[in-house]
Amino acid sequence: MPPRVLTGIKPTGRPHVGNLLGAIRPALRLAEQGLEAMYFIADYHALTTVHDAKELAHLTREVAATWLALGLDTDKVVFYRQSDIPEIFELAWVFSCFTSKGWMNKAHAYKAIVDAKEAAGETDVDAGINMGIYGYPILMAADIVAFDVDLVPVGKDQVQHVEIARDIAQRINHVYGKDPLRLPQAKLEENSAIVPGLDGRKMSKSYDNTIPLFAPAKELKKIVNRIVTDSTPPEVPKDPDASTIYQIYRAVASQADTEAFAARFRAGIGWGDAKAALFEKLDTELGPARERYNALMADPVKIDALLAQGAAKARITARRTLDRVREALGVGR
Ligand code: TRP
Repeated sequence: MPPRVLTGIKPTGRPHVGNLLGAIRPALRLAEQGLEAMYFIADYHALTTVHDAKELAHLTREVAATWLALGLDTDKVVFYRQSDIPEIFELAWVFSCFTSKGWMNKAHAYKAIVDAKEAAGETDVDAGINMGIYGYPILMAADIVAFDVDLVPVGKDQVQHVEIARDIAQRINHVYGKDPLRLPQAKLEENSAIVPGLDGRKMSKSYDNTIPLFAPAKELKKIVNRIVTDSTPPEVPKDPDASTIYQIYRAVASQADTEAFAARFRAGIGWGDAKAALFEKLDTELGPARERYNALMADPVKIDALLAQGAAKARITARRTLDRVREALGVGR
C-alpha cells in the first residue's frame, strides 16, 4: 500500500498567496505522486480562538472552496471537515489520559502564548488561555493517529506537535502491547517557498501583510499598491531579488515571464509600473481559479456535499482505529 499522508488546515483567516506557495501547492503536488492523501479542515482547532459562529462557518467554507478551486480532486484526495468525524474526539479523550501534563506545558502553541505574555511583563500568564489551546496537540494527535497515517507534511512550527502524536501512540502501544496504533512521522516542508508580504516580512496573517488569493480585481489592485517600496527613482537599475514586488511575481509567474520581469528591474523600472505588472500577473494567473472559487462560494450545498462524501470515507478508517483502541483498553466489553 502506498504511504498515507495527512494534513490539517486550520481555518483562521482568508487564504492568501503565502498559503498557496507554502502549503496548498506542495500538498496538491504530493497528492498527484501516488500517495494516499487525506486533507481536512481543522475547524475544531480553529474553535480554540474563533468564537463567532458566522465567522467560523464562513472561514471553513472559504478554505474548502479555495482548495477545491485550486484543483483538489475529491476522487483522489479524501477531503473532509474535522468536526464531521466524531471518532476523532473520542480518541482525543483517550489520548489525553496517556499524555503527561508536562508535555503540554512545553508544547509550541501554548508555550508561544505564555512566552509572549512573560515578555510583556504580564503576571498571570494563563489568563485567556482555554483548555483547547492547552490540549491542542492532543486533538492534533487524534486527527493524525485515527487514520493510520504514515507522513504528516507540516511547517517547522508543527513538527513538535507531530512528535507528540507519535509519543502518545507509542505510549499506548507500549502499555497494551498490541500495537493498535500506527506511528506517524513529520515530513518537514523545508523547501516550500516563502513569499514576502506587503511589508517585506514573511507573508502571514499574524503580520497583517497578506495578499488574499481570490480578492476581487479592484480590491487586489488596491492591496498590491500597498506594497512597501523605497524612494529609488524609476530610471535607476534595481536588484529584482531585493524587491518584494518581484518575489511575489516570481511566486505565481512562469519562468520566462519571471526572467523578463527581472530584466525590466535591471534596466530600471518605476515602482508604480512594477506594481501594475504584478497586479496584472496575479489577476491573470489567479483569475480562472477565482471564478471557480466564486461559483463554489455561491453554492454552499455543493461544498457541504463534497465534504460529507469525504467524511463518510474517512470515518471508516477512524472507526476501525477506535475499535482496536477500545478493545485494547478494555472499554465497552
Ligand atoms: N495545527 C495545524 C496548524 O496550526 C493544523 C492541524 C490540525 C494539523 N490538525 C492537524 C496539521 C493534523 C497536520 C495534522 O497549522
